[in-house]
Amino acid sequence: MTATPRRLSQNDLGGDFDVYSKYIFDEVPKDHIPEVGMDGRAAYMMVHGELELDGNPMLNLASYVTTWMEDEANKLAMESINKNLVDKDEYPRTEVIQRRVMAMISQLCNAPEGNEVAGTATVGSSEAIMLGLLAHKWSWRARREAAGLPTDKPNVVYSGLVHTCWEKAAKYFDLEPRVVPVDPERTYLHGDDLAAFVDENTVAVGAIVGNTFTGQVDDVASLDAALQKIQEEKGWFVPIHVDGASGGFVAPFVAPDVVWDFRLEHVRSINLSNHKFGLVYAGMGTVVFRDRSDVPDELVFDITYLGGSAPTYSLNFSQSSVGTVLQYFQFLRLGRKGFELVMNAAAENARYLQEKLEAYGHFTFLNDGSFMPVLAFKLTDPEAHEHTVYDISDGLRAEGWIVPAYPLPPNGQETNVLRIVVKDDFSRALIDLFLESMDTVLGRLGGQLEPPSAAAAAKKARPIC
Ligand SMILES: Cc1ncc(COP(=O)(O)O)c(C=O)c1O
Repeated sequence: MTATPRRLSQNDLGGDFDVYSKYIFDEVPKDHIPEVGMDGRAAYMMVHGELELDGNPMLNLASYVTTWMEDEANKLAMESINKNLVDKDEYPRTEVIQRRVMAMISQLCNAPEGNEVAGTATVGSSEAIMLGLLAHKWSWRARREAAGLPTDKPNVVYSGLVHTCWEKAAKYFDLEPRVVPVDPERTYLHGDDLAAFVDENTVAVGAIVGNTFTGQVDDVASLDAALQKIQEEKGWFVPIHVDGASGGFVAPFVAPDVVWDFRLEHVRSINLSNHKFGLVYAGMGTVVFRDRSDVPDELVFDITYLGGSAPTYSLNFSQSSVGTVLQYFQFLRLGRKGFELVMNAAAENARYLQEKLEAYGHFTFLNDGSFMPVLAFKLTDPEAHEHTVYDISDGLRAEGWIVPAYPLPPNGQETNVLRIVVKDDFSRALIDLFLESMDTVLGRLGGQLEPPSAAAAAKKARPIC
């Protein structure tokens, strides 16, 4: 027996039912703006329903970006969502808060006492890195011009493990990229690497505190020492821009003795992603300079502020004020002690997870989570198995977890890794659930190796009732 579905109209059902039928029957406009609009509830359901197909942010172990904040933070986010950070005249308290946040961050990066704070909130670390390199390029050019030397071949030196935004910055600002190739045995940059790459045209050296691919930290102190030696021998001053996108908020709390910041003379600028371990939602980075004099005056523009003017150094004009407000909230809410607790808990959870994953005897780790709470690991013996890290990544995705797999950049492209970022919302309880999924995936792929994880052992021991 067949039936012909009948679509009832508003006349049949009354106004409210028309809204209901809208998101049941109507197609979502995909490539044109619809001629007439629809009820807000219907529009909401259409957009909301589609977004439900996204991955679950809390199970997204790929991203460094904050996926959870407390209710009070969510409330503040909604309260500041309609304020443009650049409107300093209209929102003077937001501007004051930005200045406080910048002062706190430059303190965190150990800017020398008495220096004039120079920092700005950016859309993310990419903009911050571009602003850092742009300032160094202009300063380099001014030094060269003053000495009557050519300025047509500026270059920037960095490791092959930089984030794409460094390549973008080099291209956009006409800097020859001098890339120190990845050594699969030592995936961090060291001062010994520099001599062959740095010359009188080097605008800056990039150092990464927590690289995107493996979470490892470049040896910034040895880079500083190498550049000091170059300065003494050749007379070239080469600044370091530290990319602390992921590690800038971790290092001061997990490894306070590691010197990577303004305590080093050549470190003139640092970027941090507030939306990563600064513990605020996506949309905020920071660039801080050692001193105001590290930013050439020609790059700074004045905008109206309280009848006067305020200096701005940015690529974007308009910008959300949510990140800045939330960062201030987190500084007040957690204090230094709270940040220390959160960062060390993440590092400890990373170590716990690493220990459990090592117990499979299947994976070799490129780093450990003892500094950055990031685990990058490869198959110990890829030839011995039918499956690859890509199959494991796919299998975990089917279980709901997002764990990326990728090859390292040149010359490490033979090495394929999985990477997990242990954020503050990846609790011990969730880690144990993740390990259960890993057991399932490896079991399915035929790679279940002894000893199984504690989670699997516990599952097997469960009574049957
Ligand atoms: C080391 C590093 N630098 C820069 C970036 C770019 O940061 P953003 O996404 O804040 O622009 C990232 C992003 O993951 C990163 O890991």
